[in-house]
Amino acid sequence: IPVAPFDLVLFGATGDLARRKILPGLFHRFEVGQFPSEARIIGSARSAMTPDEFRAQVQAAIREFTPDTPTRGTVLEQFLHCLDYVAVDARGDAGWAELAGRMRPDVVRAFYLSVAPSLFAGIARQLEHHGMATADARIVVEKPFGRDLETARELNASLRSFFQEHQIYRIDHYLGKETVQNLMALRFANSLFEPLWNSTHVDHVQITVAESLGIEGREAYYDQSGAMRDMVQNHLVQLLCLTAMEPPSKFTPNAVRDEKVKVIEALDPVEPSDIARGQYRADKGGDGYLDHVGDPQSRTESFIAIKVRIANWRWAGVPFYLRTGKRLRARVSEIVVQFRDPPHTIFPNVGPVHGNRLIIRLQPDEGITLRTTIKDPGPGGFRLAEVPLDMSFAEALGADSRPQDAYERLVMDVIRGDQTLFMRGDEVEAAWAWADTIIEGWERSRDQPYPYDQGSSGPEEALMLMHRDGRRWRQIG
Ligand code: BG6
Repeated sequence: IPVAPFDLVLFGATGDLARRKILPGLFHRFEVGQFPSEARIIGSARSAMTPDEFRAQVQAAIREFTPDTPTRGTVLEQFLHCLDYVAVDARGDAGWAELAGRMRPDVVRAFYLSVAPSLFAGIARQLEHHGMATADARIVVEKPFGRDLETARELNASLRSFFQEHQIYRIDHYLGKETVQNLMALRFANSLFEPLWNSTHVDHVQITVAESLGIEGREAYYDQSGAMRDMVQNHLVQLLCLTAMEPPSKFTPNAVRDEKVKVIEALDPVEPSDIARGQYRADKGGDGYLDHVGDPQSRTESFIAIKVRIANWRWAGVPFYLRTGKRLRARVSEIVVQFRDPPHTIFPNVGPVHGNRLIIRLQPDEGITLRTTIKDPGPGGFRLAEVPLDMSFAEALGADSRPQDAYERLVMDVIRGDQTLFMRGDEVEAAWAWADTIIEGWERSRDQPYPYDQGSSGPEEALMLMHRDGRRWRQIG
């Protein structure tokens, strides 16, 4: 179904994220017929360029970052007609009047700031100054949304001087991932799981976002951030919220976000002994983290595991173990809900019977698996075996369907005016308030992260975090 006609201004249109994700995402939505004929994307960046030069750049990006299909060439030609370009100076006055002149009245108006956060305030001010920040305009901002509570508050305050909260779309691209939304469907559109989704039946939850890649090309940013700021404060906290939140009364942006904020506010302070930070070391194959950032003294973590407790009725006594890191053995993101062991075993001589395990896989192959115990088929006495009840989304949707990328869904939600999958200002601030206390703890102690081997599962200390509780991480990959 096509969305309403729109003008989407993409600031940072020549940047990496725009080329790799945003423009290819928009192209895919165009390809499936979601663009109305009056849709327009106005690229904007500092470089002086004609609209035709911009179209040529976009054409190259789409060729590079979308799969080749028999129709891609023709569709791409048509897509390029939607594109325009205006150079603006985000720190000065050049180009803004021209941009304002290109905007059409009576169409949805969205400004996507795929630029450094230090430019957010200046751009918002210019949009207001040139009459573009109309009451129904939308502004979209990328992470990092601040580097602590104070800077997040400043960003919120500067955006709110020109736009109201219902106009501000803070992207966390994890919320656009298919399985993340499926988590809500799984919990709230099935009667099977929700009655078991609490401390009576759940032993613990594991959330892993492991990456095999390192910090290539982003050394300066990453060394100022580390895994806690780069991944935990946003993506892992979001996954935690969707797993742990109470059912919202309706599937509306504020009802969902109210419940997420309550989870963040219920997070207990984390003891230093419940945190394991790591840094990948040099090995025979190449340099380590310290070489990559060019600072032998860096104490920034490229890995973190953390045991979190949610102090509320539903989750009292149920630990949530989070971990994320770079240069690990595989790229895997998953949420594991481990149910408690059956209270009693009636089968003699079969060994312990383990609780069921629900595995919600975000990537690489999105799907949901429920590990169940059955009788090992065949003769040879009564033995038990664990088998997965598997649902792969690719299979369920049919082999030909291409899963939607997070960005393509999120950008279209902006045009539709649906904020459900975007972070609200108070939510971001609550997540920072929690993260800040943890970061301050290790900054005060000046602890060095534990070294770990590249291609491993992280430092030994992260394994110990669970071992000492008599539990084990699910293997990465
Ligand atoms: C980004 C982080 O937000 O998410 C990156 O800044 C990380 O460091 C990336 O690599 C992971 O996203 P995805 O979708 O590839 O899991």
